[in-house]
Amino acid sequence: MSELQEIWQRAYQIVPEQLRLMSSVQRTVTAFNTNIDAVVKISGERLAQLAHDVGLTATDLQNTETKLNTPKDVVRGIIKCFTSGIAEEWLCEDKSVYEWMRDNLGYDRLQMGGQAGIVANVLAVAGVQKVLTHTNSHPRLQAEQFVDADNLFAVEADGTARKACQINQTNDEPLIHQIIEFDAGDAFVYGEKTHICPKSNRFIATYDTANIELKINDGFIKYLNQDGFDYMILSGFHALTAERGGCQKIDEVLPLIYHWKQQNPHGVIHLELASTQDKIVRAAIINKLAPAVHSVGLNEREALDALEVAEPEMFAALEGATLPVPVLFDILLKLKEKLKTPRLQLHFFGMYLTVQNKNFTITPEANKRGMMLAATVAASKAGTGNIENRENLLWAHGMKIGAVAEDNMHRLSQYLAVPELERNGITSYDDMDLIAVPTILVDKPKTLVGMGDTISSVSLVGAR
Ligand code: GLC
Repeated sequence: MSELQEIWQRAYQIVPEQLRLMSSVQRTVTAFNTNIDAVVKISGERLAQLAHDVGLTATDLQNTETKLNTPKDVVRGIIKCFTSGIAEEWLCEDKSVYEWMRDNLGYDRLQMGGQAGIVANVLAVAGVQKVLTHTNSHPRLQAEQFVDADNLFAVEADGTARKACQINQTNDEPLIHQIIEFDAGDAFVYGEKTHICPKSNRFIATYDTANIELKINDGFIKYLNQDGFDYMILSGFHALTAERGGCQKIDEVLPLIYHWKQQNPHGVIHLELASTQDKIVRAAIINKLAPAVHSVGLNEREALDALEVAEPEMFAALEGATLPVPVLFDILLKLKEKLKTPRLQLHFFGMYLTVQNKNFTITPEANKRGMMLAATVAASKAGTGNIENRENLLWAHGMKIGAVAEDNMHRLSQYLAVPELERNGITSYDDMDLIAVPTILVDKPKTLVGMGDTISSVSLVGAR
């Protein structure tokens, strides 16, 4: 083990204690999108078969449309993500295309989906005293995706909160998203060419009649107004489109956010960006929602997407380029300047980076501890495939940080000319604090969906 790995392994020793501290958090709210994920692992060979079955041509592959209008679009989306090792989510508004997916892709398992649902489960298992989550469809199948925990609540249509796993609104339709995962190193052969998948990742094909419009459960809003929170994790705006009134929806949510801030002056509101295809909606999220909240979480792909609307010139200059740590750092700084959010956290393979205003309510040291807890929980999720049992949360505890992570720390330190940064993870930059943490990497992740949501929420709520 290298010296740097040893240093960080020692730093990571605080993680079990940090997890215990999460039980001192009283109330956390997660909203808005909760759904059911139908997860299937696809091989390169199966993908080639699907491409053949739908008659996908080389011309089809040139198509840049990111809406699922036909089965060909579904296959094209999977191919795009598989061959580049990236994560994207495309929307489907045609029931027959959804039925094609259901019949032709199938699934290996059903699990909790949507940022609000995923984060609610993680925080409840981690021991937050009360987690309240938003659902806009809560049939039994949805209820079954919630962990059976006495600290996890959702609100029924009439405004009463009940254990989320016990609600059964029989008239609601289950909202099922197709998650297609693939493995790094797998080969997809198309015509003469063999494409090797560079990174394990997933493609999400979403057919969802409620979250697509960000349908809000009025009972939840009423309940929340009486109850309050210490932390609120918001997401679910990424499925909106300008065509379907997405920008108006954002305008409707803004006054709610201001109201919640006023009612909960000590509460921290975090917005998790997600893969937002509609650029007009993406711009509204960036220009209106991001400045209204205290904290924003994003991955490198979402950072680029955000840059595209916030600073198109810088985006154009970076198109097609690789994104080593110094470049990601520059993007993060630019976004910090443009979004005007007090705290931004970027997570990518091997590293989490947080930049925040000097006077932010969470200290850099607490952030660092929360980020190490998050990295452990995320690696545990990847390694076990399931962190719905508390025993699994610390599965990765004691493992060393990955070589890529070590290299990331080294490069950032060099770039900023702050030698101690790679060892202690904290420095000042202009009038901000910067916190960088190298992560534990799991070789063959059992699952990846929901990783970013887990990282952002545990980093924040676990920052104590
Ligand atoms: C998006 C998808 C959802 C998935 C989640 C994971 O919200 O719509 O299906 O569970 O991302 O982050």
